[in-house]
Amino acid sequence: MVNLRSPRFQLLLVLQVLMLIQSKVLCYQYKVGDLDAWGIPTSTNPQVYTKWSKTHEFKMGDSLLFLYPPSQDSVVQVTAQAYTSCNLKDPILYMNNGNSLFNFTSLGDFYFTSGEPGRCQNNQKLHISFGNGSAYSPSYGPSALPDSAPSYPTVFGTIPAPPSSAPSQSFPVLMVAVIGFVVCSLLSGNL
Ligand SMILES: *[C@@H]1O[C@H](CO)[C@@H](O)[C@H](O)[C@H]1NC(C)=O
Ligand SMILES: *[C@@H]1O[C@H](CO)[C@@H](O)[C@H](O)[C@H]1NC(C)=O
Repeated sequence: MVNLRSPRFQLLLVLQVLMLIQSKVLCYQYKVGDLDAWGIPTSTNPQVYTKWSKTHEFKMGDSLLFLYPPSQDSVVQVTAQAYTSCNLKDPILYMNNGNSLFNFTSLGDFYFTSGEPGRCQNNQKLHISFGNGSAYSPSYGPSALPDSAPSYPTVFGTIPAPPSSAPSQSFPVLMVAVIGFVVCSLLSGNL
């Protein structure tokens, strides 16, 4: 029989909880397109980046990994308009080290393409809609903290029920998201 009060069982329980937490907070690096090289899509799979972004969900602290020969290609983050028109003149971010990591630190829409002329027109472009329609709704980002946190303890003395519009599990989810973000940042050396 398993003795529920035995130290061994309790240790097991603690380990299980830790593993559960870990599996939720660990961040991942996603190789863009699941390809070994960021490049112009092949004729057999011209929509590879569109398909890939649709089938992946990302969370705070995750990163996109663009791999390519640094002498031959680059990555630019651009605005939605520049993405549509393939305008490479004023990129938000330019990376050309061949091993480019883009870290998700805020919610929104992210548009990437190659910094090399003509490649955007050939569908070497990636649009990620981050935090929209996924399990993590926009209010769970770190920016939601300052609005909700300060008034509770001082005004009421105890933590009151969340506003009726908010789902009841939003606080733990927020905490998991924030902890995940911090852990991810620590692991990747951002803080
Ligand atoms: C989220 O989705 C809605 C509806 O599809 C859209 O109108 C809005 O612009 C999106 N916001 C972001 C940040 O993607
Ligand atoms: C993302 O994080 C990694 C590891 O901390 C860092 O090397 C890289 O420069 C970051 N990327 C951007 C675009 O800031």
